Parts: sequence; C-alpha cells; structure tokens
Amino acid sequence: MNKPIDPNKIVVFTGAGVSAESGLKTFRDSNGLWNNYSIEQVATPQAWRANPELVLDFYNMRRNELNHVEPNPAHIAIAQLEKQYDVVVITQNVDNLHERAGSTKVIHVHGELTKARSIGDNAVYDIGTKPIALGDLCPNGHQLRPHIVWFGEEVLFIDECREHLQTANKVLGIGSSLTVFPAAGLLKQARFNAEKIIVSMEVDKIPFGYKFLRGKAASLVPVICENWIKKQHQ
Ligand code: OAD
Repeated sequence: MNKPIDPNKIVVFTGAGVSAESGLKTFRDSNGLWNNYSIEQVATPQAWRANPELVLDFYNMRRNELNHVEPNPAHIAIAQLEKQYDVVVITQNVDNLHERAGSTKVIHVHGELTKARSIGDNAVYDIGTKPIALGDLCPNGHQLRPHIVWFGEEVLFIDECREHLQTANKVLGIGSSLTVFPAAGLLKQARFNAEKIIVSMEVDKIPFGYKFLRGKAASLVPVICENWIKKQHQ
C-alpha cells in the first residue's frame, strides 16, 4: 500500500548542473568530464583492475578540487528550505557542496569523494580531501578505493530514495541530464498531485507532470525556494 504524502516534505534531486556554477565540471556538457576522459578508463570495475593508478589519479583530482570550490546560491537556497520543510536531498553528485551549504539529510546515490572503501570488506572510511594511493590499506589490510559507484555497480539507497519521492509533497529536480539509470528514473516515483519542477539547461526527456524551467541553477533555484518558504508562512 502507498504511504501517504507528507505535506511538509520536499525532495530535491540534484545532478552535476547544481555544482556547475561552483566551478565543478558536469559530465556531458561540452567540455564536460566525459569529453576529456573515457568512462571505460576511469569509471568501471574493469578500469580499476586494468589500471588502478589512473583511476585513483582521476578521483584524487576530483577530490582535490573540493578544496577550491564553494557552495553556490542554489546549494544555499536548498539548505534554507529546512527552515520550513522536511527536506531530503537525493544527489547523484559525489561532491560535498550540499553538506557544506548546510543541508542535513543528503543521500548520495553515486557515492562520495570524501570517503574511501575497502576492497576487502566494503567498509567505508572518511578521508576528507586526502588522495588515495596504491598501497593505502584499510585497518584489515585491504587496498582502499574511491567510494564511488562505477558503471556496472549497484546504485546506493535506491529503495529508500523511491520511498522519499513517493511521500514528498514537492519535488525539485536540478541540473541533471536524466540519462543515467536507475537514478534518473527516481523522479518518476513522485506522486501525481505533488508539485514537481525541473531546473536545468538541457534535458533529454522531462518526466510526466514536471514543469520545466530552463536556466541556471544559481539564479532560478533561490527564487523557487524563497517562494516555497513564503507559501508555508501564509
Ligand atoms: P550530466 O553532465 O549528464 O548533466 C548535467 C546537466 O546539468 C545537464 O542537463 C545540463 O544542461 C545541466 N546544467 C549545466 N549547467 C547548469 C547550470 N548552471 N544550472 C542548471 N543546470 C545546468 O550530469 P548528471 O545528470 O549529474 O555518474 O550525470 C549523472 C551521472 O553521470 C553522474 O552522477 C555520474 C555521471 O557519469 C557516475 O559517475 C556514476
């Protein structure tokens, strides 16, 4: 049986576009990461087996970038929603900008740069922005790898995310091309009568029932969030 909608609940679903104006590259825009690196060489279990140093270098660079970027007005506006609403941020991003903006419930379905995972027992460790080297071992003696969901690996927390979407009264999708499944399919779980908006520059296919606002996250998202906060005051 369907759980009831929680009138106070907002799900914000984000992709690389929400962090673009902080200075982090998206994946598929012109000059995006996948134009400069091949997924097969750096983002698959096969890549890790073939050339772990190259894979570590790629994610060490990504992790180091976190030292040089800040949350932008979109991340900050999303965090401010918590003043009035129960907010769950579901992100495909592996950066930590939602947390740094103040969001308290962030679900990373594709993993997190600031964590490492043991290849022996899958235990996860906080590493901040430190690089991982070949030979860096977990306390049980196994090599550490980036805590990133590579292509061909299972996405994290997907059932929990589905449930959040099914019980949200408002859903805001931001900055995703909606091309990588199953994460991209999550927006379809939202209820018919929930208020549903997508903000992005370019999206292949807008899921049914969503209002599409074409534009930059840092300009549009604060306006949407302020309106929602005002509405709750009335
Ligand atoms: P993409 O690079 O596929 O899409 C980025 C989206 O953001 C596009 O729709 C752009 O039009 C939009 N965009 C760019 N700049 C924007 C801005 N300033 N404001 C708003 N929108 C903007 O990134 P994702 O959809 O997040 O997975 O990619 C999904 C997954 O593919 C990633 O999590 C990653 C990647 O391969 C893994 O690595 C497992």
